Amino acid sequence: MFKNYKDIFNQRGTLYHQGMLKYPLARAAEFNNIIKLSDLQDNQIICDMPSGGCYISNFIQQNLKIISIETSNEFIKDSHNTVNNTIVVCEDISNIPLNSNSIDRIMSLAGLHHIEHKVDFYKEAYRLLKTKGIFCIADALKDSKVANFLNIFVDQYNSMGHQGNFLTENTKDELEFINFQVVHNASISYHWCFDSVASMVDYCQLLFGIDQANYNQILEGIETYLGYYLENDKCYMNWELHFLKSIKDN
Ligand SMILES: C[S@@+](CC[C@H](N)C(=O)[O-])C[C@H]1O[C@@H](n2cnc3c(N)ncnc32)[C@H](O)[C@@H]1O
Repeated sequence: MFKNYKDIFNQRGTLYHQGMLKYPLARAAEFNNIIKLSDLQDNQIICDMPSGGCYISNFIQQNLKIISIETSNEFIKDSHNTVNNTIVVCEDISNIPLNSNSIDRIMSLAGLHHIEHKVDFYKEAYRLLKTKGIFCIADALKDSKVANFLNIFVDQYNSMGHQGNFLTENTKDELEFINFQVVHNASISYHWCFDSVASMVDYCQLLFGIDQANYNQILEGIETYLGYYLENDKCYMNWELHFLKSIKDN
């Protein structure tokens, strides 16, 4: 019996991490979208939270310092501190052991739907950022195709279930209420890319811990909720997240 998100993610993180190692470029468009929105510059200090297995660092071209913040040990078991990447494991993503006004950019990709008290997390991001610092978040929007894939299909076929608490039309107001200036608030559609249909199914099975469905059921779930197409020997699965870019004004 799994008690809380940490138990769940210590269990699920293993499979998720396997999927990310086996298909490191599948979500390249997604990582590149949040990186582009974040307007990174050389020599900045940036936070990636929650970072999973420090995946975003593989897509960053600038010479800067990344602080990867994670709550689950399973995700970061293969990651190590390097000159450019420091790993911080903490108990509570809304109480991070870093100084106020010390960070230039914060990116939060695909983790917010697991965080119940999002406003506490936004406040922590505001505290950490320097004036004019930028906070970019990307996650599924409530009632979107991706949200339904996760909360209906994955929920049915992952033995631990999936009940994501997604972004809503109120997210912008929540950010503005704590003094962020929101300068981008829109969904972006793109694809997860694979060498074959079989790889797409395998990746989804690992990433979402789908242990109660066979190959054909997973493929049917992808077709029903998301859609995909084949072109030039590649398989493109439809995906879409909602992206917000907020500036700390003072
Ligand atoms: C879908 S992964 C995303 C990881 C990475 N950002 C990526 O894009 O691959 C979800 C992340 O949320 C974290 N997480 C889940 N529930 C959480 C919670 N309640 N508080 C903090 N982090 C949580 C997990 O540890 C994991 O890093």
